[in-house]
Amino acid sequence: MGIGSLTLPSPPQFIILSLLLLCAFGEAVDPFACDPKDAVTAGFPFCKVSMPMSDRVNDLVGRLTLQEKVRLLINGAAPIPRLGIKGYEWWSEALHGVSDVGPGTKFGGAFPGATSFPQVISTAASFNATLWEAIGRVVSDEARAMYNGGSAGLTYWSPNVNIFRDPRWGRGQETPGEDPVLAGTYAAYYVKGLQGNDGDRLKVAACCKHFTAYDLDNWNGVDRFHFNAQVSKQDIEDTFDVPFKMCVQDGNVASVMCSYNEVNGVPTCADPNLLRNTVRGQWKLDGYIVSDCDSVGVFYNTQHYTTTPEQAAADAIKAGLDLDCGPFLAQHSEDAVKQGLLNEVDINNALVNTLRVQMRLGMFDGEPSVQPFGKLGPKDVCTPSNQELALEAARQGIVLLKNSGVSLPLSHRRHQTVAVIGPNSDATVSMIGNYAGVACGYTSPLQGIGSYVKTIHQLGCANVACRDDKLFSAAIDAARQADATILVMGLDQSIEAEFRDRTGLLLPGRQQELVSKVAKASKGPTVLVLMSGGPIDVSFAKNDPRIGAILWAGYPGQAGGAAIADVLYGTTNPGGKLPMTWYPQDYVSNLAMTDMAMRSSRHRNYPGRTYRFYKGPVVYPFGHGLSYTNFVHTIVNAPHVVTVPLDGHRRSGNATVLGKAIKVNHARCNKLSVGLQVNVKNTGSKDGTHTMLVFSTPPAGHWAPSKQLVAFAKVYVPARSEQQVGISIHVCKFLSVVDRSGVRRIPIGLHRIHIGDVKHSVSLEAATLGVIKS
Ligand SMILES: *[C@@H]1O[C@H](CO)[C@@H](O)[C@H](O)[C@H]1NC(C)=O
Ligand SMILES: *[C@@H]1O[C@H](CO)[C@@H](O)[C@H](O)[C@H]1NC(C)=O
Repeated sequence: MGIGSLTLPSPPQFIILSLLLLCAFGEAVDPFACDPKDAVTAGFPFCKVSMPMSDRVNDLVGRLTLQEKVRLLINGAAPIPRLGIKGYEWWSEALHGVSDVGPGTKFGGAFPGATSFPQVISTAASFNATLWEAIGRVVSDEARAMYNGGSAGLTYWSPNVNIFRDPRWGRGQETPGEDPVLAGTYAAYYVKGLQGNDGDRLKVAACCKHFTAYDLDNWNGVDRFHFNAQVSKQDIEDTFDVPFKMCVQDGNVASVMCSYNEVNGVPTCADPNLLRNTVRGQWKLDGYIVSDCDSVGVFYNTQHYTTTPEQAAADAIKAGLDLDCGPFLAQHSEDAVKQGLLNEVDINNALVNTLRVQMRLGMFDGEPSVQPFGKLGPKDVCTPSNQELALEAARQGIVLLKNSGVSLPLSHRRHQTVAVIGPNSDATVSMIGNYAGVACGYTSPLQGIGSYVKTIHQLGCANVACRDDKLFSAAIDAARQADATILVMGLDQSIEAEFRDRTGLLLPGRQQELVSKVAKASKGPTVLVLMSGGPIDVSFAKNDPRIGAILWAGYPGQAGGAAIADVLYGTTNPGGKLPMTWYPQDYVSNLAMTDMAMRSSRHRNYPGRTYRFYKGPVVYPFGHGLSYTNFVHTIVNAPHVVTVPLDGHRRSGNATVLGKAIKVNHARCNKLSVGLQVNVKNTGSKDGTHTMLVFSTPPAGHWAPSKQLVAFAKVYVPARSEQQVGISIHVCKFLSVVDRSGVRRIPIGLHRIHIGDVKHSVSLEAATLGVIKS
């Protein structure tokens, strides 16, 4: 797709247009099943809303023939006309707005577009869990509205919560970044927003993907379909599994997707240890496990994991897979049963998991218009308030990386004419990244800045690849004339995307040269605005005194240009923080993307990955982000000693033997936490929002990361005033570390808690039985 300047009608006209279209197209869509107009089928027990859901599911499964069953094992589930059940497309996507990447959702007619929020890496930078849930609520309102109009499904294969392990990963943009606790918290809140909060009932069903250790698309001849990720038990427990576990346990997600790659020689979608034992057994997923599209076919045809297709089908279902995105299971499961490789009971168990989700969604409750979300329609999509939230999200996600000599904010009085330069300066579709839909409309950076001041526009480079300098001189001339210069540079999907990992971390082509030349010619202050999902080595700009400020806008969504302008002109005081490390280019020069180890190794000359384990030079660290004001913290109240009670029949002497760390399984974890009271003072002259990241450094030992995020909070503090913030750190979840055998333990001894420059030590002590009783 080319970059078009697609602009949909503005909200008021849009609503009128939608109503007209609704009259033209929008007859009520027939129910998926249990249509009250059909006396025969509506009378089946599985349609009886008053019956317990498990009885309804069992009733339905009991009525199906084997041939009917296998055709329900795939994303394009077949209709069963004799039971009054329609076909269903399970594959829809809603990573940051309703998307048409999956075949279950289509724009057009009464639904020309949907609100397109910032790409997830940007939204993560807000560190605002309330925002993540609010976005999920809006996205699911729009999704339900489109479902009611027959334009979308109810099962969304979002979010992507893989760890952004290597800065070159083309899909890093889709994730909440490199920290497991950040990613897991994002997952839980976005999923809650999507699924709603109504007991068993689901507004839409979300899906955490891609389980697990999936974070390489296509690097140096290795692609995700062939990649066997060699991962230690320690890294699995301590890094890769964390977001998925939090998604299932804290977010109650209705689905998990297994990935394409193998983990330690076994395709994830054929691994009973991962699916049946971990996700369903230990974490207690109440939902269905789906394959990536088409993982089962891939492990048979590409990885040659089994010798026959029937064995592949049997292995997947026996491992715990319930639904195949792809045709494979419908083609081969029946023969797998006939060959004795699989029992029909295994297929029944898979169907119980998928059908239960459809029942929780209300798909077997008859008339959709009487259901809780039945009234949502075209008027609920792209509403002014939904679009306002997209703008607010973009503002909260922008990160101010550099601001020397207070170059920003610009003043619309002193900087009346501004040169707006760069291949992303008038970006529209590029702002919404991948797994997007059709936005309601766009505000490009040029339009956003143009709403504050007069602009002189020059692209400088024809596109982000920036292969030549043909447009350089016009850009340099513009900077000479203007009172200030804003360069909007960076990447887009031609540089980083699904199936496209980067080879290096520098700005593409001759972008760097353009920035330096323009900055040199610029009459007023020069500001560099970066759009990208992955980190960019912009050391040249960080070190260039002519470049006064640098902003990272990620992929800021449909309203990105307005948010950028609001930050540039100080209407918004930036509060975003980097959700991933910005490494120098050297970091990747001898680093195989295929090396999954998180921890550094001196003898292998291996640098380690993410701020938790890499200690070398960085361009900007994880958590970096400036404000137009200054915040000072003090810890006003915190414990110095916290006792970890052991469960009834353990003696602390025994439990602590191994490296002086108690197995989490042996501790009484319930509500065991370290509570801190922190005072945040805004010492500057501008109101602002402070994003407080709380890290801990566990007692020294080879298991532990050098530091890890244990909590975060966001607080608005007006100029020259202060606020108290309460922080609670769950001891077993967040102060624990993982040993080499993959066992999570609580180290006994001094844990150093740091918030910015402020440090506080808490000593964790194991309680003997006597202490527990007291
Ligand atoms: C977090 O986001 C929500 C939703 O946009 C917003 O209302 C709230 O003010 C934000 N929190 C802070 C502290 O900025
Ligand atoms: C204590 O550890 C020893 C040696 O590992 C073991 O044999 C014993 O069963 C343990 N006792 C308890 C109460 O866990």
